[in-house]
Amino acid sequence: MKLNEYIIKECSYNDLTTTYREYSNITYVKNPTHDMQKMNIYVPTAYYENKSINGYNKDNAPIFMPNAVGGYRYGDIQTPENDNKYHTISAALNYGYIVVSPFIRGRKVEDGLAPAFIVDYKAAVRFIRSLQDEIPGDVEKIITNGTSAGGALSALIGMTGNHHDYQKYLDEIGAYDEDDSIYGASCYCPITNLDHADMAYEWQFSGIYEVHRRNMKDEGGRPSFSMIDEAMSDDEIRVSKDLEKLFPKYVNSLNLKDNLGHPLSLDDNGNGSFKEYVKSLVIDAGNKAQAKNISWAIYEDNKIIDIDYLAYCKDITRMKNAPAFDNLELNSPENEEFHNQHFTDYSYKHSLVNGTKTKEEYIKLMNPMYYLDDENAIKTKHWRIRHGSIDRDTSLSISAILALSLMNRGFEVDYASPWNTPHSGDYDLDELFAWIDEICR
Ligand code: DHB
Repeated sequence: MKLNEYIIKECSYNDLTTTYREYSNITYVKNPTHDMQKMNIYVPTAYYENKSINGYNKDNAPIFMPNAVGGYRYGDIQTPENDNKYHTISAALNYGYIVVSPFIRGRKVEDGLAPAFIVDYKAAVRFIRSLQDEIPGDVEKIITNGTSAGGALSALIGMTGNHHDYQKYLDEIGAYDEDDSIYGASCYCPITNLDHADMAYEWQFSGIYEVHRRNMKDEGGRPSFSMIDEAMSDDEIRVSKDLEKLFPKYVNSLNLKDNLGHPLSLDDNGNGSFKEYVKSLVIDAGNKAQAKNISWAIYEDNKIIDIDYLAYCKDITRMKNAPAFDNLELNSPENEEFHNQHFTDYSYKHSLVNGTKTKEEYIKLMNPMYYLDDENAIKTKHWRIRHGSIDRDTSLSISAILALSLMNRGFEVDYASPWNTPHSGDYDLDELFAWIDEICR
């Protein structure tokens, strides 16, 4: 495929201007099943003049491929003009990266539902590899990035490179016959491991049955917000107690270890070394931020040495009723993504609407954890995972399980919980890009 047409544009980040070529709306598959299976490609013009940026040249510049998936909805093509408030694309161009922004299908029947989002992301990577001789940049240095459902997507592509499970779906859309493994995965607050996220949530918010969240309603195409502050019903509390009991067995089945090789586990009451590890993420976050006068923190010499975990969880508050993801009335975004079906045995068994269970195949294709020990999945060596200390969209334990599972298998994982940071991403772009520079040089 030849890329012919482009426009020259400029963007700024930190008062520095980058001139770039924009190739827009390039179809990335041969047999699109959605009229938006397209991408934009942004390339600093310096690379066509044999110049370098930030130490990179036309042959070795990393290829940064963020996705804009959120809430398991489709992710649109982003441009420097309509980008998020952090101006991720402009910043990345400024750092000398080639930037690729693909459209990704989401949770609408007409889009394709699970596993469409990972199929599109893989197809986009394959297409970029097919352009190896057409555009500057090193196709062996593709780095994905996403937040929330998009962070889950970044983790999933990082874990499943070239795995044959996805081939038939890639064939359906006419994906290019190329390698779809990537070099680095950046994952902000990944809403991942969905089939274990309910039990993790109830383990974290055990005994906390007040729900606080902002509710968004669509009013004639415009979002309107209201606060929901409610007590969970007796039935929901029963569900919460059932689910939290399932979590220790799951955690213990993973044989996780800390970085000194000590086993991380939970007893039947949900206490134990794994809980201490999760607490340590919050403690480290507080100490890094030099947080003072935190009511649930225990200080020694001005350093936090422990936290009252229940008081911390009460302070950040519960956001979701139980079950948090596989809703008993099939009402969650995740239910929609899984073809309006259940995806856990618990919710299937306790369904209030006689719901059916989605195909086991879909559950596997959507969860990076199932590919950890699969030799047919090429995994990125380089991981950066961030999950804010006041995030309540999913339990902190979910990213901890992902990060520990990878670390225990020898992958390079830069994992931390930034202090006082809610469910969000891209808030530390200079640090993210310093990480990319470190792994690419
Ligand atoms: C997202 C947030 C959620 O709470 C959820 O359940 C799924 C996705 C998101 O922000 O992408």
